[in-house]
Amino acid sequence: MSYDCIVIGGGVNGGSIAYSLAKRGKKVLLLEKDRVVSKASKAAAGMLAAGGEFVEDGPLFQLARKSRAMFPEVAQELRELSGIDIELINKGMYKIAFSEDDEADLKRIIEFQKQEGEKVDWISAKQLRVQEPRLSSAITGAMYLPSDGHVSAPNLAFAFLKSAAKLGVDIKEFIEVYSVIMENGIATGVMTTEGAYFSNQVILAGGAWSSKVLADTNIRLDTYPVKGECFSVTSHQQLLTSTIFSHGCYLVPKSGGRIIVGATEKANTFSQSVSFNGISGLMEKAKRILPAIVEAEWEMAWAGIRPQTSDGLPYLGEHPKHKNLFVATGHYRNGILLAPITGELIADLIEERQMMLDIASFSIERHVKQPV
Ligand code: FAD
Ligand code: GLY
Repeated sequence: MSYDCIVIGGGVNGGSIAYSLAKRGKKVLLLEKDRVVSKASKAAAGMLAAGGEFVEDGPLFQLARKSRAMFPEVAQELRELSGIDIELINKGMYKIAFSEDDEADLKRIIEFQKQEGEKVDWISAKQLRVQEPRLSSAITGAMYLPSDGHVSAPNLAFAFLKSAAKLGVDIKEFIEVYSVIMENGIATGVMTTEGAYFSNQVILAGGAWSSKVLADTNIRLDTYPVKGECFSVTSHQQLLTSTIFSHGCYLVPKSGGRIIVGATEKANTFSQSVSFNGISGLMEKAKRILPAIVEAEWEMAWAGIRPQTSDGLPYLGEHPKHKNLFVATGHYRNGILLAPITGELIADLIEERQMMLDIASFSIERHVKQPV
């Protein structure tokens, strides 16, 4: 059988792309080498931190804000189609300071974000403790980001995939794509563990493993993996209401008294092992922020692999030298936040529609290395 589009990768971005394409009437095949939602999209804390993650203006900050704004509609659409609640919670985020230097940094970030029209403000330690009484008294104030909510990352990824399937997308697990089939510089399908599949367009959304698929195709992208470890606890007491974001540690209060604490960063490894060092370091940081967390019950720990690029910007676009081959990866720390806009942008590109924003900064052209 031949398809309009083949999507490689069953994470949140592959799911979002397949869903956007199916909404536009395309016949889509999605191929996943493992189980769907088993890699970074399962590991993520689910923050929609368009304000919290960005310390300066740039194309990614603007992309992130646009994607964040799509969530209320996406949540409703996906719930109607898939029955899955993505658990969108809009209770804001506090990016906290422990010193005068932290305060100066945060106030500079507040200035640039205000200029861009972002809702953001400085609040004193006293005001913060009225909102979050369990936080440490060592915190000297915070940048308050009322628009940065969060979702359940796995639920979002599953909701995209189930909705896509409902709209007719064929999803096949445990099929690994070895390479993209090229005929006269045009992508016409993929070669897999189960033979060849053909389509008019091929979209690579393989997360941290994407460059491997292209490497086997003799095309190289400038990406590398960054491992992240997290743990979660539960508590009958309400320890937090809003997300707390600090250096190398964040605490995300989920429904039912669960808190996700993340995350470590280790570059250039595909190992998904959870280390004593990683988790104990996070525990120390979390305790410094929220001393009462020691009373909570341990739940679990896990790790995932973020897909990063050498300049920190994702790849979103058609390959400059290989027509009909599209790439959507390199979302690094923000792939959950960026998933809704990634799906729509890739579908717009494939349909040659007017883009909703300029995506030149994310072009593959900037880094494509041809084989030597
Ligand atoms: P993945 O979820 O990794 O999916 C790619 C899929 O492609 C995988 O299932 C893989 O098996 C498959 N695949 C790869 N190669 C092939 C092949 N050859 N054939 C077939 N299938 C293939 N982002 C946020 O926005 N907010 C957060 O709070 C947040 N927290 C995070 C916390 C941690 C600890 C980590 C690790 C990441 C976090 N992220 C967060 C980042 C986010 O998880 C990623 O950016 C995002 O999940 C990437 O999604 P993806 O679909 O591109 O990749
Ligand atoms: N965005 C949070 C993380 O990647 O850890």
